[in-house]
Amino acid sequence: PYIARPSPAEPVTPQEGSTTGLTTILTLLKRATKIDFAQYKPTTVKRRIFRRMALHHLESLESYSQYLQANPKEVQALHQEILIGVTSFFRDGEVFTALEQMVFPALLRSQRLAQGNPDSPLRVWVAGCSTGEEAYSIAICLLEYLGRHSVSPPIQIFATDVSERAIEVARFGWYTPSQVSDVSPERLQRFFVPTDGGYQINKVVRELCIFACQNLITDPPFSRLDLISCRNVLIYFGAALQSKVLPMFHYGLKPDGFLLLGSSETAGVFGHLFSLVDSRYKLYAKQLSSRPLNFDFDPTTYTPSAPSPRPEPPRDRPSEIDLYALADQTVLNRYGPAGVLVNDRLEILQFRGPTGAYLEPAPGRASLNLLTMAKEGLRLDLRTAFYQAKQADQAVQQRSLLIEAGDRPCPVQIEVLPLRPQPADKAYYLVLFSDVVPDGPAAAVVPAADLESQYRQENLALQQDLDTTRSHLQSIIQEQEATNQDLRAANEEILSSNEELQSTNEELQTAKEEIQATNEELSTINDELYRRNTETARISDDFQNLLSSIHIPILMLEDDLRIRRFTPTAASLFNLIPGDVGRPLGDINHRLAIADLEARILAVISTLEQTSQEVQDQAGRWYDLRIRPYRTLDNRIDGAVVVLVDIDSLKHSADQLRQARDYADAIVQTVREALVVLTHDLRVVTANQQFYQTFQVSPSDTEGRSIFGLGNGQWNIPQLRSLLHDLLPQNLQVNDFEVVHNFETIGSQTMLLNARKMTQANGDDLVLLAIETVRDRTINDE
Ligand SMILES: C[S@@+](CC[C@H](N)C(=O)[O-])C[C@H]1O[C@@H](n2cnc3c(N)ncnc32)[C@H](O)[C@@H]1O
Repeated sequence: PYIARPSPAEPVTPQEGSTTGLTTILTLLKRATKIDFAQYKPTTVKRRIFRRMALHHLESLESYSQYLQANPKEVQALHQEILIGVTSFFRDGEVFTALEQMVFPALLRSQRLAQGNPDSPLRVWVAGCSTGEEAYSIAICLLEYLGRHSVSPPIQIFATDVSERAIEVARFGWYTPSQVSDVSPERLQRFFVPTDGGYQINKVVRELCIFACQNLITDPPFSRLDLISCRNVLIYFGAALQSKVLPMFHYGLKPDGFLLLGSSETAGVFGHLFSLVDSRYKLYAKQLSSRPLNFDFDPTTYTPSAPSPRPEPPRDRPSEIDLYALADQTVLNRYGPAGVLVNDRLEILQFRGPTGAYLEPAPGRASLNLLTMAKEGLRLDLRTAFYQAKQADQAVQQRSLLIEAGDRPCPVQIEVLPLRPQPADKAYYLVLFSDVVPDGPAAAVVPAADLESQYRQENLALQQDLDTTRSHLQSIIQEQEATNQDLRAANEEILSSNEELQSTNEELQTAKEEIQATNEELSTINDELYRRNTETARISDDFQNLLSSIHIPILMLEDDLRIRRFTPTAASLFNLIPGDVGRPLGDINHRLAIADLEARILAVISTLEQTSQEVQDQAGRWYDLRIRPYRTLDNRIDGAVVVLVDIDSLKHSADQLRQARDYADAIVQTVREALVVLTHDLRVVTANQQFYQTFQVSPSDTEGRSIFGLGNGQWNIPQLRSLLHDLLPQNLQVNDFEVVHNFETIGSQTMLLNARKMTQANGDDLVLLAIETVRDRTINDE
């Protein structure tokens, strides 16, 4: 059905979304097989169901569920279809090298440690082993490895699968040459025995493996295991099932045991149970876990977390008009000096008055940051004042600052005033600059006598300096803390992005698993197609050979009478060349003397009744022209088949026969004697006119009747009986046998009978009886 030509008019697309149909199907499967496929990946399960539906030409899940209910065998077939058993010897070969390099040495080490204990074999579990190739591959590798290290600990390889059929094949351990194509010749020679056109695993390997039917979902696991290999099984399981199986594997392993998964599988959320030994080969080591194991984990869903919305950029200029008005008000009210309005990040929002004496653009990247623009000598105190104002939320003043003005330092003072347009709004700051008017000359002169007070003043100044430095340091510390906080927030953001990436990664992993599962399915479909292709090619070859050897002109036509195929003998009769395939029959100038050939073919296609008629070609040769509808395997009519059976010689033989019969008839009718032809059981086949006249009987009362019953038994003459019953069978002919008889109608007659037996090819011999009436003795005697 997969290679049947699709009919463009009726595409078979199963109706998706029919959940009741799907639920019924899954329930039927669960009832019959005890496997709950509802927990498998829905996409895979659905694909397999659709495949079976296509096989049975069913278009909806409902109709397929009804079909399943009526056909329990189909439930089994679907069950096998879903358990995709793709496998091979030494699948992903490098994995086995990794086992030899990373796992077996460790197992041997821990086995040596347990040397004192004779019941301590190496225990391996191959879960989902399909038809056994994986288990045997591990056994072979292990045997080779132990052989190289001259040790022979007891080995137990438990290999399980939910499919009984697969386990039977595995137990038998017989494989076709194509199945062992990945096994090296050396291994083939050492571990296999050639039998029945294939290869069987030898006894040594076979005895290491214990095969059993086991459902990973419902049956308890094996325990005290050194290695669990569960490859390409979890890809078919939904997240909930995976979460159930992985802790079970953890439980089954010895403390230093290993877990091997398929190339697209991971331990996922169970990182705390297994540590990754090699990510390429999906090899894990058991981790001792302090967390209690829960065998019924909730399904893990990897819903992509929506990216957190970016925070809106802070509105730095809220109700500008109000703000500026308020600033104007404040400045005007208090000093009227030059200054700037900044936000809490010290970015200048507005310059007020002539600020050139205090601020200047810094070289390099353009910036409106107050600290970048502040002149040397102001920065430190500006920063300190700003942070103090911010912290205390009140005005802070810094006096006695010196900036360079021309060639001499100029004392200035700054004041930072916090502003809030609304109580709940964030703060803005008005930074005002003003020159300090030097004190009068009296102040500059310090009386020499008053040294003590001078020291005190210096001390005071130093004290002030120290205070400034201290508060400056404090502000730096606070700034540092703020930066630290920012860094911490940034770090948290990175962490959360990381988590997002991880979940995206897991999603990709799931997608990869899906692709892998699809790949496996495709590979089974491919195998099947390959097998069918080979079958089709063989059928096609047989068919071609048959057509060319039967020497019967045969023409196959599409339903629009285009030529689809013809035999070599048809080529000469219809004047066809290979390029005529696909051309309408009407375009072909054939050699048959029949005017309405196309109409006849179309009539057969529409009525579905085959016809047969004798036709001649232009050379006068006779054919039996048979036209019948072309029926496909699924009973569709897809054109017509025209067959011409050569009946020329038959026709001529029939003519000759007819002529011979006419000739014999003419003789029979012409002779003067009465002649009658009898069958071997003495019934009249025919008689000549003379017979009817002489004995006054009619053909209708004569033909087909026994000669002894003719004319009310008049011919039931004992001598005639003796002639026909006794004499004739012994002698092929009897001449001049005289019989006298008194007939009711014609009176007494003396007859000379000549009889002859005519042997026929079919065994139904005939008797020719000639009756000559000699004279009428009764009349003469009278
Ligand atoms: C693709 S094969 C993998 C075979 C082998 N492990 C390999 O990688 O070559 C998947 C196997 O898992 C088995 N399987 C599916 N569901 C299972 C279950 N619930 N318990 C045990 N085996 C299961 C199927 O029967 C099938 O043989």
